Amino acid sequence: MSRLAGSEMPLRPFVTANFAITADGRISTRNFTPSDFSSKRDKRRLVKIRAACDAVLVGARTLGADTMTMGIPGVRGKNPPLRVIVSNSGRIAPTLRVFHTLGAQIVIFTTKKMPVKTRAALAPVADIFIHPKPAVDLSLALAILRADYGVKRLVCEGGGTLLRSFAAADLLDELHLTLCPLVFGGATAPTLTGVPGKFLPKRTQLRLVEMTRAGDECFTRWAVVRGKVPARTAK
Ligand SMILES: NC(=O)c1ccc[n+]([C@@H]2O[C@H](COP(=O)([O-])OP(=O)(O)OC[C@H]3O[C@@H](n4cnc5c(N)ncnc54)[C@H](OP(=O)(O)O)[C@@H]3O)[C@@H](O)[C@H]2O)c1
Repeated sequence: MSRLAGSEMPLRPFVTANFAITADGRISTRNFTPSDFSSKRDKRRLVKIRAACDAVLVGARTLGADTMTMGIPGVRGKNPPLRVIVSNSGRIAPTLRVFHTLGAQIVIFTTKKMPVKTRAALAPVADIFIHPKPAVDLSLALAILRADYGVKRLVCEGGGTLLRSFAAADLLDELHLTLCPLVFGGATAPTLTGVPGKFLPKRTQLRLVEMTRAGDECFTRWAVVRGKVPARTAK
């Protein structure tokens, strides 16, 4: 959806992201256990956001930790979103639930580091794109999703490491955040941009678009602001 006027940027999908976050900014419990700390209502919201997209994308660790199927439970009559996985190492267990659950086509973006055995095991169940560089080129991956699969709207469901890459490459357009009534602490607990580390090369400016209280949770939606920063947030 977003071709930058006058640039060589390829056409790419609109990229939204969806996360649940604690009051102290954590996205995961101790030891990276599944992010199962938000309410049932938030889970329903996640499915709704997913269903409104043409593709759902996750990083390899979230896929494993959350044993995801990346599908739309209980929703019929609509093409489910493409299931997209990214991994630089290509070390993705073919035994993962997603590969054994009927649903939309699975697409994997990885590099030459993907073990030959893994590639052979996953080729029958997924389209695999091998990037020649040591890391997946997310811009190129998005362009492929748009051109080859017709993806116009994509939701990134984590984890933080992957969202950090999207933000660093300025490929994020929108963020859904559910603020949860919990405090986890944990100096090394993952945040929205992964395990606390370096600052992003450039900050991502957001504008609050929606905010709904639901019990003790708060559902928010933010638009990424590019170009001129609105006066009320300018410093
Ligand atoms: N609260 C929430 O809403 C929420 C949402 C999602 C996840 N989580 C939690 O967050 C934790 C996982 O987050 P995480 O940050 O550790 O992991 P992650 O982002 O899910 O996965 C990291 C892995 O994904 C691959 N990856 C990430 N960015 C990539 C890029 N730009 N190009 C290619 N591959 C890339 C790499 O795989 P390789 O190492 O194979 O190269 C990387 O090690 C889990 O505990 C999960 O439950 C919470």
